[in-house]
Amino acid sequence: MSETLLYHSISEISNYLNKHKDSSLALVPTMGALHRGHLSLVKKAKELADLVAVSIFVNPLQFNDKNDLAKYPRELEKDQDLLMREGVDLIFAPSESELYNADFSSYIEVGDLTTILEGVYRPGHFRGVTTVVAKLLNLFIPTYAIFGEKDFQQLRIIEKLVKDLSYKTKIVRGELIREESGLALSSRNARLSEKGRQEAAKIYQTLQEGGKLYHSLTLAGNYDSLELKAFLSKQFIKLEPEVMLEYLELIDESDLKNSTEATRVVLAAYVEGVRLIDTINYVNFPSK
Ligand code: PAF
Repeated sequence: MSETLLYHSISEISNYLNKHKDSSLALVPTMGALHRGHLSLVKKAKELADLVAVSIFVNPLQFNDKNDLAKYPRELEKDQDLLMREGVDLIFAPSESELYNADFSSYIEVGDLTTILEGVYRPGHFRGVTTVVAKLLNLFIPTYAIFGEKDFQQLRIIEKLVKDLSYKTKIVRGELIREESGLALSSRNARLSEKGRQEAAKIYQTLQEGGKLYHSLTLAGNYDSLELKAFLSKQFIKLEPEVMLEYLELIDESDLKNSTEATRVVLAAYVEGVRLIDTINYVNFPSK
């Protein structure tokens, strides 16, 4: 097994990159507390590039809720172990002051895509995400950067950032990975009790019911996302109070706006006070 280097400083990363100028590099940005979802992004990265780097940084700029930031799991040793077993070349785990100097005041704003959906409930969140992602892209100048589809809006915003600001990095999409119960893998799931996990699994069960309606409407030639949204909203009301839906929308993948043909669901819901998100595109949902 080859060694996985752990660096905390920007200068160490720069030195490493200077020595590996001729190799392609895939970066997987994370906030740690790694699970199978992250590891599937790492696998994809390994298929694409000579070298794989994973950044682990719980980015305070993207937390609009200080309580959520304080409770976010931090498990660097465990993460390091997992990444070593996956054969990752480099881990970058900076301190807050390494990335944000005391008088830090420069931010990246992507615009319209950031003020809808998650942006309504988490003001400032995407500005924090795009600022840290821009810093990581500037620092690593990776050939590829891999982001999971679970945070679908984040993924689209990062794709837009890279296009608008002419970054050379190719953004690669990684599929959403679920637990056997259907619950979308998330570092936040660790905060759920066993009962909470069972309740949370009903989110995907409900999305599956929506999938059946999607296929029967499509087959009959009268698909209308408004009908599907009304059905899903009614089904989610039945899960209250254990599952409290915050929002659910059917959106087009390009502009993230509603339309009658939209097939991508995005939602956020609370279970045991933990905020969970999920997404599915019914076009890819099996009809049997
Ligand atoms: O998806 C995440 O884990 C974070 O938002 C990211 C992209 C690593 C930026 O902090």
